[in-house]
This record gives sequence, structure tokens and C-alpha cells, in this order.
Amino acid sequence: MKGVILAGGKGTRLYPLTKITNKHLLPVYDQPMIYYPIQTLVDAGIRDILIVTGGNYAGDFLQLLGNGRQFGLTSLNYTYQEGEGGIADALSLAEHFADNEKLCVILGDNIIEKGIREAVEEFRRQKKGAKILLKEVPDPERFGVAEVHKGHVVNIEEKPKSPKTNFAVTGIYMYDATVFDKIRTLEPSARGELEITDVNNAYIREASLSFSFLDGWWTDAGTFDSLLRAATLVAQTRRREGAKP
Ligand code: G1P
Repeated sequence: MKGVILAGGKGTRLYPLTKITNKHLLPVYDQPMIYYPIQTLVDAGIRDILIVTGGNYAGDFLQLLGNGRQFGLTSLNYTYQEGEGGIADALSLAEHFADNEKLCVILGDNIIEKGIREAVEEFRRQKKGAKILLKEVPDPERFGVAEVHKGHVVNIEEKPKSPKTNFAVTGIYMYDATVFDKIRTLEPSARGELEITDVNNAYIREASLSFSFLDGWWTDAGTFDSLLRAATLVAQTRRREGAKP
């Protein structure tokens, strides 16, 4: 399985911090944000990784990450998203890289406490379709929200005003190679973007979307509050781990 990290976007919710850099290069406690999703993929045994970025500071990723040596990698792949087409549009740029293999996709601002190795192994064994990771949260209206019925996700709503459950769809997705055909059928949403939620709903319609719950804490880091929360959670986890005998 190959890995894709989506690290484009303007990061407008973090202005003025993101006027002079890309959101995913901002610090989260002691590391640039992008280090966390890379480490998550590497820890899950994924070594072939594509970073999709965009905007005015794309070159800084190369300078920071090079060939990924600090993660034990021998190479990293990069591509560039023009404009602001949304998450599914950014993912469409990975088609050539994917070369018909399964993909594990992570949003560059999603930070987790533990690993995804088990879910990745499960998806390796899954014949076709997609797999998403859910997390129970107190503020589901900020996210894609999954409606679960009899052990299946039956629908996902993007940032609903009245969420039907507390199950946020985290920004960690696993897809088979049909994802690119599904993206080609999408129309832009009200915010003018190709939504990853629409991709996941296409898999639901085919009855080929599985899910599991993510273990440990999960946060995004795309707003002032969640960026602060991410740094605090990382700091607390480091302290706890450092205190272990
Ligand atoms: C995106 C997705 C949303 C998902 C979230 C996870 O939202 O659209 O479904 O729950 O990432 O971080 P965004 O923060 O890009 O608006």
C-alpha cells in the first residue's frame, strides 16, 4: 500500500500565520505539522509516500523534508495542486503515483496519539472498496459525520448543523484504485470544493466502505484552537512517555 499526504490549501482559518508559510509547516509543539502524518504512515509500514502541496511555499517542503531521511526513508515524492479545488481534487493528483495500488491517505493537519497499523493491515486484506477511521468527538458539527446502522456506515454528512451522531470521520482514509473514477464523477460542493465526503458516500452506495474506530486521541490543527490543542496533546503525550520507567 502506498501513502498520500494532502498538504495543500491556503490555511485561511489560520491567517495571518499562513500568509508567510504553508499551514503544514507550522510548529506543533516540537516538530513541523507535516512530520506527524509522515511518521503515522511510516509507523504503519508504508514507505512509498507522496506529498501533495500547493500555494506559494511548496519549495519549503523539499527543503525541510528532502528525501525523508529523518524518517528512515530513501525517497519522498512530491506533487503540486494548482488552485483550491478541495481534498478530493488534491487526491486526484495521486493517480499516476498510485499506479493501481491501494492508498492510505492522510490530511496533513491530522495528528494522532497512537498508530494505524492494525487498520492498514485490515485494509490490505479487504478485497476492494475503502476504509475510514472514526472517532467519537464532542463537536461533530466541525467534521464529516458518520451515521452508523447495524454495524455499517450508511451515510456521511459534511459539517451538518444537526449531526446525527458524534462519530467524526477522521482525515485518514484508505482507498482502492477506483477512487480516481469516483473523483471524476464529483461536482463541487457549496464551498466550491470536491469533497472527500462525496467520495466516501460513493463507496457507501457500492456497499464497499468499511470502518473502524481510532484508538487514542485525534485532532486536526487547522484552526487556532485545534492548533493549540494539538500542541498541548503532543506535549502531554511526550511527557507521559518520557516518564515511563
Ligand atoms: C476535512 C473533511 C472532513 C473531515 C476533516 C477531518 O474537513 O472535509 O470530512 O472530518 O477534514 O480533519 P476540513 O477541515 O478540511 O474542512
